[in-house]
Amino acid sequence: KHIILIGAPVDCGKRTRGCLMGPDAYRTAGISEAITALGHTVADRGNLAPAHVDVPQHGNAQVYKLAENVGWTQTLMAAAQDAAPEGIPIFLGGDHALAAGTVAGMAAYAASQNRPFFLLWLDAHSDIHTPDTTDTGNLHGTPVGYVTGRAGFVDYPPLPATVDPAHICMIGLRSVDDAEHAVLDDGDVTLVDMRKIDEDGIRAPLAGFLDRVAQVNGLLHVSLDVDFLDPSAAPAVGTTVPGGATEREGHLVMEMLSDSGLVSSLDLVELNPFLDERGKTATLMVDLTASLLGRRVFDRPTRRSL
Ligand code: ARG
Ligand code: MN
Ligand code: MN
Ligand code: MN
Repeated sequence: KHIILIGAPVDCGKRTRGCLMGPDAYRTAGISEAITALGHTVADRGNLAPAHVDVPQHGNAQVYKLAENVGWTQTLMAAAQDAAPEGIPIFLGGDHALAAGTVAGMAAYAASQNRPFFLLWLDAHSDIHTPDTTDTGNLHGTPVGYVTGRAGFVDYPPLPATVDPAHICMIGLRSVDDAEHAVLDDGDVTLVDMRKIDEDGIRAPLAGFLDRVAQVNGLLHVSLDVDFLDPSAAPAVGTTVPGGATEREGHLVMEMLSDSGLVSSLDLVELNPFLDERGKTATLMVDLTASLLGRRVFDRPTRRSL
């Protein structure tokens, strides 16, 4: 496979600073080397910068750095569409606001190929606010709202293709705001919260979703938020929520995705290296990426004994 690394030092999606250092932390943790060691080729396109746009102050005065968010969305939407025909883009974040651009761009690419588009959202949060419903004003809580075509993103670029909520699966949920419940509770998004994972394991719900993608030869974008993982395994994030996925569940998800062969693109988001402990979160994110790209303990299924 050919992997394209795209640095997206987006730090305008929330008020806690530091995600701009994410791309370089992944490089320092050896992401290129880990990928080439698996037999793939890698092109590192360096870090992008947001387009300059002028937008009026939003009606909701809480909204933080709207113009920069819109600029990044424009830039990343184009970057995704540009990279997708050449290989598998991995977007090195940057906070989750970047997914407005990467997911919209990959959805546009899928439409151009006449392939159904699916989104796997690995996150403690559902990030399906709009600029009008967010209580914090932090736009990293809104990318799923944007890509599903919710109203209220007036200053954002028009979507070439909206994402069907029935094609979205969210795994790891444990912090959902009231305004998000209002769209999710009776909606079409597949919701896998931590209780579901505790009761059924993480394999069953993921396998069900991957079957659906495979049945229609879909193209699958994976958006991995650091806070999907438990803070004990992944402390380097501004929005830690206790009770998250374990390191082992994280690897299993990535190995299943690898086996499926369906993944077209990946976001690594919300890593804040300023909050890390001796690089352990950056290293874990790189190891999870390696599992997604084929790293295994054994190449063949291990023999079972009775
Ligand atoms: N729902 C909260 C908010 O709107 C938290 C969002 C956290 N999002 C994230 N990408 N970490 O502010
Ligand atoms: Mn998120
Ligand atoms: Mn999150
Ligand atoms: Mn609630």
